[in-house]
Amino acid sequence: MSALEKMATILPDTAAVNEKGHLTIGGCDVAKLAAKFGTPLYIFDEATLRRTCAEFRQEFGRRYADSLVIYAAKAFINRALARIFKEEGLGLDVVSGGELSIAKSADFPMDKVYFHGNNKLHEEIELAIGWGIGRIVVDNLHELSLVNQVAKKARITQDILLRLTPGIDAHTHEYITTGVIDSKFGLPIATGQAEEAVVKALSASNLKLTGLHVHLGSLIFSIEPYQKAIEIVFRFAAEMREKHGFTMREFSPGGGFAVQYTRDAPAPDIAYFAQAISAAIKSRSKAFGLKPPRLIVEPGRAVVGRAGVAIYRVGAIKDIPGVRKYVAVDGGMPDNIRPALYGSRYEAIVANKANKKALERVNIVGKFCESGDVLVKDAAIPRVIPGDIVAIPVSGAYCLSLASNYNASLKPAIILVKNSKARLIRRRESYDDLIQHDAG
Ligand SMILES: Cc1ncc(COP(=O)(O)O)c(C=O)c1O
Repeated sequence: MSALEKMATILPDTAAVNEKGHLTIGGCDVAKLAAKFGTPLYIFDEATLRRTCAEFRQEFGRRYADSLVIYAAKAFINRALARIFKEEGLGLDVVSGGELSIAKSADFPMDKVYFHGNNKLHEEIELAIGWGIGRIVVDNLHELSLVNQVAKKARITQDILLRLTPGIDAHTHEYITTGVIDSKFGLPIATGQAEEAVVKALSASNLKLTGLHVHLGSLIFSIEPYQKAIEIVFRFAAEMREKHGFTMREFSPGGGFAVQYTRDAPAPDIAYFAQAISAAIKSRSKAFGLKPPRLIVEPGRAVVGRAGVAIYRVGAIKDIPGVRKYVAVDGGMPDNIRPALYGSRYEAIVANKANKKALERVNIVGKFCESGDVLVKDAAIPRVIPGDIVAIPVSGAYCLSLASNYNASLKPAIILVKNSKARLIRRRESYDDLIQHDAG
């Protein structure tokens, strides 16, 4: 089996190998892209991006007509991507004034933007309301009164959802589980805070309580946590209707849909999640006598993950006979902190040797001053020499958005490829960029 066949489910849709034995994405030779744009380089495949957007829209839409897919910008956003999501008819989930500004700069329709976050700042709320944001997803009681105050000053009635904590463990990494009671996010149902928020929201002068939201965590492989959450939230909504006259017009089970990173860890497809979530909402609406609400889904990782590939150039190779071989590349933890932060696993493919057999297992490591700066442990790759080009698939989500300038490194260039053409969508940082905000 060729490297490409082995990696087919984790590479972008358009990945192929050309007559030189080089990996191509979007019809572009990756080794040539590396030479032209430099490395580290992040490549986004436009076809894969648009396909996943359409798949989310269609798979949910055909099972649940009144649904809206909003892309969770935290996975990664810039202006070019925001324009694509807009064209694909998605809404947007933002968590900061920064993400909101990027959306604004792409003329994103503000009525399809949802504002999340556990500590939204006063000025961020003002900005959001001033720009006519669709929904603010209120996370706590402090924020509830803050949003009401800002809306009052702006003389508007702001649509809000309440983010609830259902008390569910999504069985993912501790840092990315969010639905448990002991979480900084959301209003717990069990403690009565969620009910208090419903009562306050319903009587607030400038708020319209449109619906309820939960987000259980990220990289969730099973539908069970979603089903449990839907049961809990719909029961709560029915209780709030009886006690306080609340109507749940919108409901969001959040995002968190897993993607496949390595060959041994396949993830369910979008249809699987769409089927289970739509069925649970219909059945629980019926069971609790509720009108089926509008469904808002918030995928981040599952939209951009597979569309992105990180490209590095091999430098130093350290062989410790009988122990291990280290292949160092010119990027690492500043552009992809996930392995160091969560122990995340990846695969690697040598882009200029895509037809060559994997002959050895090596650790692909970065160039930064931490031993934890390992991108891929035990990568099975052909023998490499300095100058070879390593591609790491499924790098579209939570790499660039978590990127830092550790060791005063330069954030990578980003390109979008389509129909054998590559377009720069973010230029590589320069040394001047590093000092431009220094004062004195
Ligand atoms: C509220 C909310 N919605 C959606 C997401 C997107 O999650 P994912 O990228 O796993 O789909 C997140 C991520 O943590 C989130 O916090």
